[in-house]
Amino acid sequence: MTAIIETKDLRKVFTRDRGKSEVVAVKGTTFEVERGEVFGFLGPNGAGKTTTMRMLSTLLTPTSGSVKIAGLDLNDGSEEIRKKIGYVSQVGGMLRDATGLENLIFQGRLYGMSESQARERAMELAKLFNLESYMERKVGTYSGGQKRIFDLACGIIHKPELLFLDEPSTGLDPQNRVHVWDQVKKLHEQGTTIFLTTHYLEEADALSDRVAIMDKGEVIAIGTPSELKEKYGSTTLDDVFLKITGHIMWNPGA
Ligand SMILES: Nc1ncnc2c1ncn2[C@@H]1O[C@H](COP(=O)(O)OP(=O)(O)O)[C@@H](O)[C@H]1O
Ligand SMILES: [Mg+2]
Repeated sequence: MTAIIETKDLRKVFTRDRGKSEVVAVKGTTFEVERGEVFGFLGPNGAGKTTTMRMLSTLLTPTSGSVKIAGLDLNDGSEEIRKKIGYVSQVGGMLRDATGLENLIFQGRLYGMSESQARERAMELAKLFNLESYMERKVGTYSGGQKRIFDLACGIIHKPELLFLDEPSTGLDPQNRVHVWDQVKKLHEQGTTIFLTTHYLEEADALSDRVAIMDKGEVIAIGTPSELKEKYGSTTLDDVFLKITGHIMWNPGA
C-alpha cells in the first residue's frame, strides 16, 4: 500500500486578540492515509478536525511540521497538489443566485477546463448523481440534501484523486444522508481516496476502511473500525468514542 497523505508533527497555533492569546488547534500530529481508502476522521467539536483538513488541502499554512500529498511536499507543490484534491467544506461554497449547472461549470473553469469540457463533465456528474431534474434551477431553491449532493459534485469536477469532505451529511434527514453516503461509496468504488469527518459514527463505521479519533488537537486512536472495537472491548464505534474521549458524540441531526 502507498500513502496518499503523510503528516509529520503537524501543528497549528492560532493567535487571537492581536497576539494576546493562543489556541493550539492541532498539537503536532503524525499519521498516514492510504491511497484508495475511505478515512473517517472523528472527534468532538473543537477537536481540530477542520483545521487539520484545511492544512492538508493547502487552505491553511501549518505553524510547523510537514505534509506530503501524493508524495509532494506541501511547501513545494501547492499548485500541483490542488489539482489532485477536492475539498467540500462544512458550509459548502456554491453561488445561490446561479443554477447548479452554472456552478459546476464555473468550478470547472477555475480548474482550467474549457467551457465545453466543463459542461461535458457537469453533464456526466449530473447523470452519476441523478441531478438532471434540478440542475437548471437556482441553488437558492434547493433542499439541504440537493445542495449537499451538488457541493459534492462541485468538489469532484476535476476528477481529484483525493477528496476531503467536512461533515458532508450533517443536518440532513436520514434519507438524504443515505443518498450522500451512496454517492461517497460510488466515488470510492471509482478509486477516489476519501478523507471525511462526520458526527454519525454508525455511518463512519459502515463506510470507513479506517478511522482516526482526534481529541484536543491530537490523534489518539487510529485503525479499522473492527480493530478499534476489539481493542476497546466495544460493539459500536460510539462506545469506542465514549471510552477514548469521555464524550458521547453530539449528533447534530438527531
Ligand atoms: N481561524 C481561527 N482562529 C482562531 N481559532 C480558531 C480558528 N479556527 C479554529 N479555531 C479554534 O481551533 C480549535 C479547533 O477548531 P476546528 O478545527 O474547527 O475543530 P473541529 O472541526 O474538530 O470542530 C477550536 O478551539 C477553534 O475555536
Ligand atoms: Mg469542523
